[in-house]
Amino acid sequence: MAREYNMDRRAYLATIGAGTAAGLAGCTGLTGGGGGNTIRPGTAPGFQPFEFRDGGELVGFDIDLTEAIVAETDYELGEWQTFEFDSLIQALTTDKIDMIAAAMTITDDRDETIDFSDPYYSANQSVIVREDGDFAPSSLDDLSGHPIGAQSGTTGETVIQSELIEPGKLEESNYNSYDNYVLAVEDLQNGNIDAVVVDEPVGETFADQRPVSVAFVYETGEQYGFGLRTDDDDRTDAVNSGLQAVRDNGTYEELRNKWFSG
Ligand code: ARG
Repeated sequence: MAREYNMDRRAYLATIGAGTAAGLAGCTGLTGGGGGNTIRPGTAPGFQPFEFRDGGELVGFDIDLTEAIVAETDYELGEWQTFEFDSLIQALTTDKIDMIAAAMTITDDRDETIDFSDPYYSANQSVIVREDGDFAPSSLDDLSGHPIGAQSGTTGETVIQSELIEPGKLEESNYNSYDNYVLAVEDLQNGNIDAVVVDEPVGETFADQRPVSVAFVYETGEQYGFGLRTDDDDRTDAVNSGLQAVRDNGTYEELRNKWFSG
């Protein structure tokens, strides 16, 4: 496991809320330069069980899977760096990191700017609501007229924009964009918004841990990939071979069982 500074929850929320590329960047010599034989991974925590803080430590399926994959390659794993989700692509293209491991959906849009590894996980979107509330939507149309939220730059946000705002089913002012899904769900619990659109495995996890529940699933058939620079075929090939190796040797299955109970 990569070394991490301990942060308490408030410090963590302050960091993720402040829009900073969290201060882990550049804390060791390993993080300098984009060349060499290091893969410097970047992620956006607050997305349990894929990436989140547990007592200050960065943990999750993507963290373990990345470490297992890189261990199968000739590359060394650099220190983890954390960003807001919507800053990850820029962090990659400006050489601050070499690989995005953040439950990032492979989309045509993103594929114009970066490359993706082979897919490593499939997901749909879920709509979560307060558990004891009387709002029980069963389709996107039912969200009309309600304040709702998603994390900035995500495919959940894209669903809200393309399926609700653009067709005129939701006022733009009813959409609230958050730096992090944890903040969105806190606003849901507080009653400031009525629903959050989030990847289903993460929606299920919030429902396990907080007084919220999954109202319905909206099928998007998304696939997650690791993000790499378009000119970095060596690392892309290495990550794809490493992914195949951890599938073949049973590690992928083990990690899946570790992080996904259902
Ligand atoms: N899969 C969604 C997307 O690619 C959400 C990913 C959010 N990831 C995160 N680490 N916060 O847009």
